[in-house]
Amino acid sequence: MDSAFKDGLEDVIAARSAICAIDGAAGRLYYRGYEIGDLAGAVPFEDITVLLWRGELPTAREAAEFRARLHAERGLPAPIVSLLRSLPRDCHPLDALRTAVSLSAALDADVRASDVDGNVRKSLRLLNRVPEIVAAWHRIRTGREPVGARADESHAAYFLRLLEAREPSPEVARVLDVVLTLHADHEFNASTFAARVAVATLADLHAAVVAAIATLKGPRHGGANEDVLRMLQEIGDPARAEAFVASRLGGREGRSRAERADPKARVPGFGHRVYRVDDARARVLRGMAKSMAEATGRARMFAVAEAVYDAMRARTSLPVNVDFFSAVVYDALGIPADLCTSIFATGRVAGWCAHALEQYADNRLIRPRAEYTGHAPRTLPTGAVAATSPLS
Ligand SMILES: CC(C)(COP(=O)(O)OP(=O)(O)OC[C@H]1O[C@@H](n2cnc3c(N)ncnc32)[C@H](O)[C@@H]1OP(=O)(O)O)[C@@H](O)C(=O)NCCC(=O)NCCS
Repeated sequence: MDSAFKDGLEDVIAARSAICAIDGAAGRLYYRGYEIGDLAGAVPFEDITVLLWRGELPTAREAAEFRARLHAERGLPAPIVSLLRSLPRDCHPLDALRTAVSLSAALDADVRASDVDGNVRKSLRLLNRVPEIVAAWHRIRTGREPVGARADESHAAYFLRLLEAREPSPEVARVLDVVLTLHADHEFNASTFAARVAVATLADLHAAVVAAIATLKGPRHGGANEDVLRMLQEIGDPARAEAFVASRLGGREGRSRAERADPKARVPGFGHRVYRVDDARARVLRGMAKSMAEATGRARMFAVAEAVYDAMRARTSLPVNVDFFSAVVYDALGIPADLCTSIFATGRVAGWCAHALEQYADNRLIRPRAEYTGHAPRTLPTGAVAATSPLS
């Protein structure tokens, strides 16, 4: 057995994939060969989804067909609304999402359909279900009624209307469309890898998306955007950013590895396993954060973010990641901190399904090995086997 152990699977090639490519040294990201900066804002999220799932951008007719199929699947099944109503109001939105997606498996007539068409039908439903659940839970937990489906809006506008029960402006819908596109896929990130591991056992697609949502939650992954917004709110004033960063990073040399790994010793929104420089998504989000924050009277939040960015630049070479400026955009959209990771999931579900479809199409169980570091084989101490034991 090859015993080359890579801590955290760093740089390990775990499978072949034709969906998404990352150039970590240059900060570039490609969906099916198209650079993210060329796609974001130019190609609607629905067409991005087709690109990720099928490999090519849709023709006008294919794009219309895809929207018609997507719109036909809109609307939360009543049992999911009932489930959400039964949750405690302080249930974290991502926990509510994970739980409700789990229930949606039981309500999906195709749950056991493992052919390509069945998996595409489930993917379409999940693409709707995620924003529908996120919006319905946010309304229920804030004492408001969920809003009904409509079939004539873009995916981004639909989600915003479900959240706020009013039509978003075209500008705001466009901002969310870009945000969804920027989050749609990212190669073998932790949640996508979790989905592929589940698929590789031939578990159903809903099971894979539940695994992905569960994995997205952690602060090392999608949960970081919630931490970023809380951090920026806590700092509150650009003049306090430098001291805050210093308190997080200061004295690292004297700290143990475990102490350095503590989230309280890190600045969320910085660092990445693959990128060595700020990535293209972060650059787009920084521009959007600035204009959105100014347009919505949240310029101070952007100023705090810029001050943290500058303080990090002065102290480290860690790149800023997608979660940093996206949190400022969410704040300008009126999204509370604990809902940020659910917005991430609303975009990333497109990528989870793309990777699931790819894994089902050419599958082999994903089952790595561990380098065993435990005790050498040994015998039980005398008298340790009870007289009633089947081993005795
Ligand atoms: C993203 C992340 C998990 C990547 O992890 P990784 O590739 O395993 O890198 P490590 O955790 O081994 O970090 C490498 C070094 O950089 C430091 N580091 C990484 N990110 C840091 C951050 N945001 N703030 C401060 N220090 C950081 C680590 O402490 C470590 O230093 P050490 O070797 O002296 O202990 C990590 O950068 C992180 O925790 N970032 C903050 C959370 C975040 O924004 N997550 C969203 C990712 S898109």
